[in-house]
Amino acid sequence: MSYLETTIDVYKEAALTPDVGLCCTTSPIWQFPGLSIPTKMQEMNYGCGSTVHPRDLVGNPKILYVGVGGGMELLQFSYFSRQKDGVIGVDVVDEMLEACAANFEEAKKENPWFQPDFVRLAKGDALALPVEDASVDVAAQNCLFNIFKTDELKRALKEMYRVLKPNGRLVMSDPICEQPMNETLRNDERLRALCLSGSLPLNTYLEMLTEVGFGTIEVRARRPYRILDPSHYPTKETLYIESVEVCAIKDPMPEDGPCIFTGKNAIYFGSNDFFDDGKGHVLLQNQPIAICDKTANALAQLNRDDLYLSAATFHYDGGGCC
Ligand SMILES: C[S@@+](CC[C@H](N)C(=O)[O-])C[C@H]1O[C@@H](n2cnc3c(N)ncnc32)[C@H](O)[C@@H]1O
Repeated sequence: MSYLETTIDVYKEAALTPDVGLCCTTSPIWQFPGLSIPTKMQEMNYGCGSTVHPRDLVGNPKILYVGVGGGMELLQFSYFSRQKDGVIGVDVVDEMLEACAANFEEAKKENPWFQPDFVRLAKGDALALPVEDASVDVAAQNCLFNIFKTDELKRALKEMYRVLKPNGRLVMSDPICEQPMNETLRNDERLRALCLSGSLPLNTYLEMLTEVGFGTIEVRARRPYRILDPSHYPTKETLYIESVEVCAIKDPMPEDGPCIFTGKNAIYFGSNDFFDDGKGHVLLQNQPIAICDKTANALAQLNRDDLYLSAATFHYDGGGCC
């Protein structure tokens, strides 16, 4: 069976019979005022973190969501968008699209503000999206891209880049793993489809995003996800898997490389009112400024004893340099 056949098989089953343990969500199910998420949608929450961040959703964005699952995040996006076809949901599995549509009918009963036509569901493959070039402001995927092998992942990311408008945002959540995984695990199509054996180290994952052209990357969250241990999985090592939430912004690529924010900050505590690094970063005395990793490296090279540089928290929440 090819990866696609196995994936379709796994998610056809997960559409027909909700499987609560299929993905291990690492963020709470976000509840907003006046939003009720039907029980079946919650049972079909097959993501890890969350891709719904209200601050990405200013200015009435056109939203694309790839790999719909039970539709929970599409409903959450609709909560902010509230217009016909405001969210496009693409999935390759017919049964998943049908289950998602049925969940929207239930959501309508529980949410007076919601109309199922707020979401346009479309059959399609993440590797060849049925969406026009430069037509969406926010594109999202949760726990799908980790299933893909390298070449497919490159194609899927290029597709997202293609359909985003300039400065548009790709919001993603996926498992990552810093330890090497053996080939048996890597090539097990079913474990990959279950989001267990396709994960990459964080830096590799981020490099793939910047190689496609995204000039700004925000690492917004990093959390424990799963353990693959020798008594349950074909591995001699016990493997620790985390999940990340990342936003890749289709900003032009800076000449000196991408701006990747991992939650680092700088504080100038010298005797002047401010410190200016001459590259556009002005640090006011004793006030933290969020900095990207590139700026953090450049400031570290200065070897100043009046600059404090904090470590990555992997919880970047906006603002700062670049
Ligand atoms: C792990 S589930 C995640 C579902 C949803 N994002 C969530 O967070 O609950 C993966 C989803 O991607 C869909 N899918 C799998 N392969 C796909 C592909 N090549 N193109 C589009 N969707 C795909 C599956 O049918 C399923 O809905």
